[in-house]
Formats: sequence, structure tokens, C-alpha cells
Amino acid sequence: MGVAADDGPVEHVSAVAAGRVIEAPPSAGGYPVHLGAGILSGIGDVWSGRARGGRVLLVHDAAVVEIAGMVEASMVDAGLHVVRAPVPSGESSKSLAEVERLCRLAADAGLRRADSVVALGGGMIGDLAGFVAASYQRGIDLVHVPTTLLAMVDSAIGGKTGVNLPEGKNYVGAIWQPKLVYMDVEVLDSLPERELASGFAEVIKYAFLEGGDLLELVESWPVLPGPREALIDLVARCVEHKLRVVAVDERESGLRASLNLGHTAGHGIEAATEYERYAHGEAISLGLLVALRLSADHAGLDEAHRDRAATVLRRHGLPDKLHPEVDLDRVMDALGRDKKSDGTALNMVLISAPGEVILGADPPRDEVRRAISELRR
Ligand code: GLY
Repeated sequence: MGVAADDGPVEHVSAVAAGRVIEAPPSAGGYPVHLGAGILSGIGDVWSGRARGGRVLLVHDAAVVEIAGMVEASMVDAGLHVVRAPVPSGESSKSLAEVERLCRLAADAGLRRADSVVALGGGMIGDLAGFVAASYQRGIDLVHVPTTLLAMVDSAIGGKTGVNLPEGKNYVGAIWQPKLVYMDVEVLDSLPERELASGFAEVIKYAFLEGGDLLELVESWPVLPGPREALIDLVARCVEHKLRVVAVDERESGLRASLNLGHTAGHGIEAATEYERYAHGEAISLGLLVALRLSADHAGLDEAHRDRAATVLRRHGLPDKLHPEVDLDRVMDALGRDKKSDGTALNMVLISAPGEVILGADPPRDEVRRAISELRR
């Protein structure tokens, strides 16, 4: 993908209790990503060794009470003062009203500029708590503790934070890099199957962006979540890929847009179905098939790759067919309003082969429409 190899993430093995560590390059934020199984109880020691202040606002999904209790206990044992802030599950919590509530909670608890926010949950929590960290007292330290596969391989890495407006998703936000990312794949054991598969859709996306042995590995992946050590390796591959991209283009003025493979049509399908019919990764699965169809028609991709993608998606319970009730006009309408579109061009990501990315493509709308309606057959 034309990413400079000498600015890549560096992986090493730390103290056993804290898992293996991938160091984000300085230009991607320069923070450690700890990754392992059964390492959650080590988070207090790791963070207390880096934190500048003693207070922590622990923003967590209300659905992960037990994990939040473990993180809190570990931090308290390490001498940190923890203020728990449960947030109701669901996208409606990603709002400016919730940002205000959390900032005021931080103020009431006496958090100062050296203190920190810990984001414990999936993508919604990471985006919301990340934006609180970016905004409170003009920015305080942030720790991501992702509890979904999607958050591990995507949203906890790279610094995107933000909340929704009625006018659009992620319309208010900031790039705010964490000081630590701490991932324990054991937490995935309690993740509903559908959510695990949804995260795997992003893994499949990386496989087509990178090609080579990552694509082969993903194609042959067994029932999710899969063998523990192999899963840690797989998550590490995705994290390393994203860090390499963010290192050269943190603000998405170029290469970072490649991570949107499958997201143009995917977001259109999500928006046209009120974000209710499909989980994010399910919509991305459909969007990936649209992108691969257009890649075959416009970028010389061997058509067999689209079938490869459909086979692996189906195997993990991800959709390769669009529900007949989904209104194609609404999907096309939503595509034009997508943040990635500049109002005229769609700015789609295509590939000419696995690992060979084309940015800023603008295929004719009737062909995009045909590629989406193909999903109905
Ligand atoms: N989720 C894509 C990105 O972080 O750029």
C-alpha cells in the first residue's frame, strides 16, 4: 500500500501479566498497545506507571459492569482514584448531551488537566469518552480499553473521537490519540455472536486492503472467535496495519481513507435503514461486496475476489444479500450525503488486486446503483 516500512509499529513482549506490546510510531501518537488474554487485572499497574495524575474517569458501557469492576479494582489497587461513569448502551448515548453530562461529572469529581479518562466498551464508548477526553479542560489523557472485536481492530486505534448530531453521524469530534490502549481478548468470550461477526467484517476489510497471507489467514479462519493465540496474532495484524496507515496520514487527507473500503455503500445502507436493520459490520459486509463489484468493473480486480469475499462473509453469518425491503433510492440518496463525499464525487475506495488500493474513485451513479441492486439477487 505504499506505506513507509521504517515508520511502522514495533512489537515486543513485556512483562507476562501485561501481554505483548505494539508501539504506535510517534507520528501515529506514540503510545503502547497492550494485547493479550487474561491481562485485564494488570491494567492498573500499567496505567499508574504512566499516568500523570491520580484521578481516572472510568466511562464504561452499562452492559459491561463486571469488566468495569475488574478494571476499577485493578486501578484502585495501583493507587488510582476511580470515578465510575456508566453510559447506557446504544448509539443514542453518542450525543453532545452525554458529553456535557460526563464533563460535568469529571468537574464535580475534581479531575484536573493531569488526570485521565478511561474508555471501556465498544466503538460508541470509545468515540464518546474519547471526545470527552479531547474536550475536558482542553484535553486530558485517554486510555482505550476496547471490549468488542470491532473496537479492538478499528475504533480504539487511530484517535478518531466524536459524537452524532441529528444532522449526521460523527459530525462533531476531534482527533485525540490515546496514551495507552489495553486489549484483553478474553472479554470477547461474552460478546454476542452477531457482534463478534460484525467486528470480523472489519478484519475481512483489512485482509483485502493488505492481501497476501493476511487474506489467506482470514479466509481459512474457523468459527469465531477462534483459537486464542491465533486471535491475538490476528488482532495484532489489524492493529499494525492501521497504525502504519495512521502514521503517514493521521488526519485522513490521503491513505487513511483506504480504511473506508466498503464504508461508502455500507454507510448508505445503514443510513437508509435508520441504523436499525444492520449492525455496523453487517452493513460494511454489503458495502465491501459493492466496492469489490465496482473494483472488478472499474479497476481491473479479478471478479473471483468478490466471490471469495462473499464466501468468507457467509461463513461467519455476515450478509451477502440485501433485504428486499431496503429502498435503493434511499441508499443512493444517503451516499450523496456521506461525509466522505465532497458533494459531487463519492470518493470511494476500490482495489485493483488485494493489497493494491485506489483512492478517490467516483464511479458513475448508475453503476453504483447496479452494484447495490446486485445484492438483491
Ligand atoms: N475507521 C477508520 C479510521 O479510523 O480511519
